[in-house]
This record gives sequence, structure tokens and C-alpha cells, in this order.
Amino acid sequence: MAEGRFTNPVVASLAGVKDFFAKQELESRFSDEDRAEEKTVLITGANSGLGYGLAVEFAKRGARVIMAGRSKIPEAGEQVKKESASEKVEILYLDLSKIETIHQFVQLLAKREIKIDICIFNAATALPGSRQTASGQDEMFLVNYLSNVILSQLLLSKGVVELKEEAPLSKMIFISSDSHQGATYIDYDEFGSYFKYGVSKGISNYSYFKLVLNTYATELSRRINRESTRLSINVICPGPVSSNILKEAPWLLRMTLKGIFRIVFKSPAKAALPVVYMALSPDYEGRSNEYLHMFNPKKMDPKVYEVHEGEKLWARSLDLLRSIDQDHKDYTDQADKMI
Ligand SMILES: NC(=O)c1ccc[n+]([C@@H]2O[C@H](COP(=O)([O-])OP(=O)(O)OC[C@H]3O[C@@H](n4cnc5c(N)ncnc54)[C@H](OP(=O)(O)O)[C@@H]3O)[C@@H](O)[C@H]2O)c1
Repeated sequence: MAEGRFTNPVVASLAGVKDFFAKQELESRFSDEDRAEEKTVLITGANSGLGYGLAVEFAKRGARVIMAGRSKIPEAGEQVKKESASEKVEILYLDLSKIETIHQFVQLLAKREIKIDICIFNAATALPGSRQTASGQDEMFLVNYLSNVILSQLLLSKGVVELKEEAPLSKMIFISSDSHQGATYIDYDEFGSYFKYGVSKGISNYSYFKLVLNTYATELSRRINRESTRLSINVICPGPVSSNILKEAPWLLRMTLKGIFRIVFKSPAKAALPVVYMALSPDYEGRSNEYLHMFNPKKMDPKVYEVHEGEKLWARSLDLLRSIDQDHKDYTDQADKMI
């Protein structure tokens, strides 16, 4: 059975408390001069928490910001405009638990000839247990892992994110969690299948799906950047963020953790800074397959870098998509060609 590092939400949150006091090695490298005037930045899950903080910070630094979200449309976009004093912000509908909306979203970007320079795969959910999506998968599996495969492959196959031969490269940044460290190997008996589970397995799956996501990001980088680096694909854990991630947790748990979140978890505005650093600093220009835990460079779990694991995940993800997303073969065909 697949298992993440934590099965108890209180223990998971206490690990976050330790992170709050950690030294931030590269923080002094981040500068007001890291600007984004020429950049178009796409952020998923941008209506809340870290995604919202990212939208404000990128907009303040001059970027054109496309917020993607399934709720608070257009309010969250209007609020970001106000806070950042920028008009170059819009919010578009994207529900990552509904595969068809991912297609519609990318089609809209392609139709409007929008080119994304920096894509932040931020959206995720922490559910108290299993929930089945209309396409038949577990919701956390689809939102926290598989939708990121669909979105990244569609952005590439429709040319919304372009591969480049020269700097500045386009960038994909996957928002992960350091809690992925120590999760088990990917379990292909469970992969993509729906079964019932409760809170402990939900907490465990949250960190386990981050290991799956990091393995995909590593494999994507390996396939695209085989000859030379043409797309910068990196992973970051923002550390503990005082966000809405626990909004679906049982009431008692939410109340218990609310205090911890308020006192020792970082505000979304502060937690956004290492992500913006990774996206804009010359320190990370032209680099791929890097991992930051807040402002600290680190290695991901060793399993993430095992080539055999990456290849197997790639093949199994495409097999699954061919069976559940049969009306759209073009992007899986294209992904098949990335070897
Ligand atoms: N909070 C932490 O301590 C912490 C620590 C490490 C990593 N992270 C990571 O940071 C990222 C942001 O999380 P957060 O803490 O800022 O939590 P959050 O406030 O709950 O934000 C999550 C975002 O994802 C969106 N989302 C969830 N399900 C979606 C769906 N089906 N379709 C589209 N969007 C969906 C949410 O939209 P709605 O508002 O509509 O639900 C929200 O905008 C996540 O990847 C999380 O794993 C968080």
C-alpha cells in the first residue's frame, strides 16, 4: 500500500513548526531587482492561500498575471489588482477535478495566442477522505497529481508554453511539500483506481501524491532537456503556509490546527517569496530539476530521481489518460514522442 510520511495531521503540522524557524540560506539573494515586466505568469489555485500571495507578488513585480481558479471569480482577481496596483491581472475558470475544463482552459489560452513564460502548478487539495470525481478517479489523485500532467502536457502540445534554445527559458514550477520525503515507492495497484478511505490515509496520500508529482516533474525535465536545457522545470516546497488548505478537515481538527497555523505558519505573502525568487532570480536562470525547500536548496527523496521510476510513472500516467480522456488523443500522442 502507498504511504506518505505522515498519517496524523497534528504530527504533520508540527513538522511545519520546525520549518518555520529554519535558517533561509538563499533569502539574502532575493532582490527587488528581480522583476517580471516582460513575463506572463500562470498560477493555478490562485484565488486562495499561496497562489493568491504569488499572484500579488508577481503583479507587483510587473508581470502579466493569469490566475486560474474554480472559485472567487472575479473577486479574487479584482482584489489582486487592488493590492498590487496593477491592471495586468485576470482570473479564469479552471477546475482541476474536471478534465474537460482543463482542455477548455488551455484551448482558451491558445485561441487568445497567450504564451506563458512562467507556469506555477500550485493548486492542491487536502481532503479528509476519498471522494470520486466524475471521471472516476480519487479527487486528491486527480487534483494533486494527474491534472498537473494533463495541464503541463496540453500547455506544451498547444504551444502555450514554448521550448526555447536560448535564455530566457520558459519555466514550470511545481509546488510540492517536503513531507514527500520518506513516502513509499509508487504503488501501481492503487494508481488511478478509486477506493474508500478516511482521514489517516487522506493525510498520508497528500504527501505521497507530492512524491508522485515530483517524480513526474523530474521525468518531464529529463525528457525535455535531454540534449540541452530548453525548459526550466523545478520543484519547491514553500514551507508552512497559513492558508485554507484545511478547510475540508473535520471541525475539531480544524480548530486544533487553526491556532498553530495562525501563530507559526507563514502568511501567503511571505511564503510566496522563495517561489518568486526561484522564478525570477538570475540564480535559477537556465537551471532545471532543482529543488528548494523554502530558500534552502536540497535534494528531493532519492526515489524521485530513479530513472526506472520516472519512466514507469510516465508510461502508466499516459496509459491511464488514454483510457479516461479518450476524446483527446493529441496530447498523449505528443507525450509518447518525448522519449
Ligand atoms: N499550507 C501549507 O502549509 C503548505 C505546505 C507545503 C506545501 N503547500 C502547497 O501549497 C500549495 C497551495 O496550497 P495552500 O496551502 O495555499 O492551500 P489553499 O489556500 O487551500 O489553496 C489551494 C488552492 O488550490 C485550489 N484547488 C483545490 N482544488 C481545486 C480544483 N479541483 N480545481 C482548481 N483549483 C483547486 C483551491 O481552490 P478553492 O479555493 O476553490 O478550493 C485553492 O485556490 C499546494 O500545492 C499545497 O500542497 C502548502
